[in-house]
Amino acid sequence: MHLYAAPLQGYTEAIYRNAHAEIYGDGPDRWYTPFIRVEHGEPRGRDMRQLSSPLNTNHRLVPQIMFRDADEWEKLVTAIMETTTYREIDMNLGCPFPPQVRKGRGAGLLGRPDELARIAELMKGHPDVTFSVKMRLGINAPDQWKAVMPAINSMPLAHVTIHPRVAAQQYGGELYLDDFREIMAKTAHPVIYNGDIATPADIDRVTSQFPTLAGIMTGRGLLARPSLVDEWRQSREWTPDERLDALMRLHSRVAGQCEQTYQGETQILAKLKPFWDYILPSLDRRTAKAIKKAATRPAYYRAIESVGAE
Ligand SMILES: Cc1cc2nc3c(=O)[nH]c(=O)nc-3n(C[C@H](O)[C@H](O)[C@H](O)COP(=O)(O)O)c2cc1C
Repeated sequence: MHLYAAPLQGYTEAIYRNAHAEIYGDGPDRWYTPFIRVEHGEPRGRDMRQLSSPLNTNHRLVPQIMFRDADEWEKLVTAIMETTTYREIDMNLGCPFPPQVRKGRGAGLLGRPDELARIAELMKGHPDVTFSVKMRLGINAPDQWKAVMPAINSMPLAHVTIHPRVAAQQYGGELYLDDFREIMAKTAHPVIYNGDIATPADIDRVTSQFPTLAGIMTGRGLLARPSLVDEWRQSREWTPDERLDALMRLHSRVAGQCEQTYQGETQILAKLKPFWDYILPSLDRRTAKAIKKAATRPAYYRAIESVGAE
């Protein structure tokens, strides 16, 4: 059973992944980068630079690309092949952000089987790359995957990660598990489940519900409970003290790197505060409010000191 960390733009960046890999020894088998895309006709410089960060060396990282058509796809794959040593590439067919979907990127490609068939052909020209797909069930109906399944099945893929929602739902609402079961049966590739995994028990529940799964990918659940994968692997829920101790060490590494990497209080705080976004609901209200409102570093670090002290 593979356990993967989902890409979250603005959260699972190099600093976070590196710190997580330092603190949590039994963590995810692979991390996926937030999507890399084309901007002004070229692979975006900032995205490509992130790939060569020295912080990436302590964990297994797979670049994820988001593209509109075969042309953008080829540009991104070529850039990764020519300028990096990564030989695994994940393809984003799930991003629900309406401006991107309208342009045909992310989940938008679920409505364009012909373009996916063209890309499947191009993949034959890159036999040294291991590709995977991360997708949803559809754009606005959970059976739209059926139209693209022939193209996806014709691709040489290591696995398909499926988030059983449609793009119109964004990240909330009902999970279409019956459709997930159906897509699993119709996919020629190993399937990774992704969506709303928050506890080790959730991993057990989903794997017993779908015993042929090749793995689980977790995003927000891992950010809210960074020990999630370690706990599941160790078949033991950590005590609140163990979880808090590791969390504070994780934060301390992330904060240290942010202080080194970014300049100016505003920028440092803007990079640091998202660390707490998915953790805040589990904190007491006063601490959560103090973290959210902190406008200076002293106020921020004071607020952090009260995490777990309630
Ligand atoms: C803020 C945010 C940013 C995301 N960025 C990406 C991304 O860059 N690439 C991608 O494939 N999915 C992205 N996702 C989707 C997650 O990878 C994941 O599929 C989704 O959150 C469902 O899994 P979860 O319930 O375990 O979080 C993002 C989700 C959120 C909430």
